[in-house]
Amino acid sequence: MTALSPRGVPLDPIETASRDEISALQLARLKTTLSRAYEGSPVYRAKFDAAGVHPDDLHSLADIAKFPFTVKQDLRDNYPWGMFSVPREKLARVHASSGTTGKPTVVGYTRNDIDMWAEVVARSIRASGGAPGDVCHIAYGYGLFTGGLGAHYGAERLGCTVVPVSGGMTERQITLIEDFEASIIMVTPSYMLSILDAFRAAGKDPRKTSLRVGIFGAEPWTNAMRSEIEEAFGIDAVDIFGLSEIIGPGVACECVETKDGLHIWEDHFYPEIVNPETGEPVADGEMGELVITSLTKEAFPIIRYRTRDLTRLLPGTARTMRRMEKVTGRSDDMIILRGVNVFPTQIEEQILKVQGLAPHYEIHLGRDGRMDTMLVKCEALGAADGLDRDLAHHIKSVIGISARVEVTGPGTLSRSEGKAKRVFDARPSR
Ligand code: DLL
Repeated sequence: MTALSPRGVPLDPIETASRDEISALQLARLKTTLSRAYEGSPVYRAKFDAAGVHPDDLHSLADIAKFPFTVKQDLRDNYPWGMFSVPREKLARVHASSGTTGKPTVVGYTRNDIDMWAEVVARSIRASGGAPGDVCHIAYGYGLFTGGLGAHYGAERLGCTVVPVSGGMTERQITLIEDFEASIIMVTPSYMLSILDAFRAAGKDPRKTSLRVGIFGAEPWTNAMRSEIEEAFGIDAVDIFGLSEIIGPGVACECVETKDGLHIWEDHFYPEIVNPETGEPVADGEMGELVITSLTKEAFPIIRYRTRDLTRLLPGTARTMRRMEKVTGRSDDMIILRGVNVFPTQIEEQILKVQGLAPHYEIHLGRDGRMDTMLVKCEALGAADGLDRDLAHHIKSVIGISARVEVTGPGTLSRSEGKAKRVFDARPSR
């Protein structure tokens, strides 16, 4: 019998296949992918040769550990077309990073790749509680960023009525949500908070919209933030994960019935967790850096890509495919303050514990003499009395660091229209 989503939409058979079936499919696809990379891309050929490995050396899934990692620098070094396994004429589309630091990176898709991407995003929306006929409001940015167009093709594939709004012009977002009666919104969680502010500023009740589901990703966000958004809008908030180098959104997504971590669509992406320092694979259940190998991509097969995202692998629940725990943060975002490691998401959790604080925040790092300092800026919803003390106390007692807290009035911090910038590091390099 075909398994159904909570809305009664049939799942792909592979979503409920046995682990043995999934592993067999992965092994076959991994072999094809390694050969495709080796045959098609001189960069991969050189990397494999240098490491003394050949695609024929893969006999089991564990053998993937013999193959070299791919890192962001490889994409930069081979900008624009060097990493591709098909001639440029076969590309149906490219996306690129903004390249705020250094050279941009470019990724590309054949028509089949776009098709696969649409399929995994459609699957993600269905897992989130979407169904054909839903009005899907997309407020991820369109353009070189993969968020907007990735969500768009997936929502169309599922059979939704797509409203391709992109980010920005927040008042208009509200008008369109209301007028078109969107049931699904796809947007970064931080921009959803800006939309929430705009609802309140307009004197409108955000719980009275037709929205039922929000599919949030592209940046880390905590379960505390999930509760905040769910409560404010009266919706289910579901986490979607992805990155351009792998495909864009839709590598993994939560299921609305469990909301217990993101099922990785393992028929297309092979996950590993490695120790970020040594690169050694760690067992399922242990924390480390997520490494992903694509299993079906044609234009840009990617082998053992170091995502820098920290998480762990967990067994399947609502689906048989494994889950990844909500991403705590990227190893690059980890703040080391006087010897203590802190992620912005840990600060977020403490802010959301304090009644009377809004969910907006900035973390400013500085140096006073030889001492690193942290200033957490946030906003009061109303009266600010004592909120700074409360937050500083939570941060000290739970995270173990002394931070200065500045609580300002509503609307004083800058608002996100996409990925929020949380950390402002003004520490001179030592
Ligand atoms: O952010 C793709 C995307 C768009 C995902 C829309 C989900 C929704 P990039 O710009 O390449 O691609 O950034 C990828 O963003 O390595 C993570 O660090 C972070 N990230 C993405 N999704 C999540 C998430 C898109 N759900 C980088 N939770 C990744 C935490 C996320 N971090």
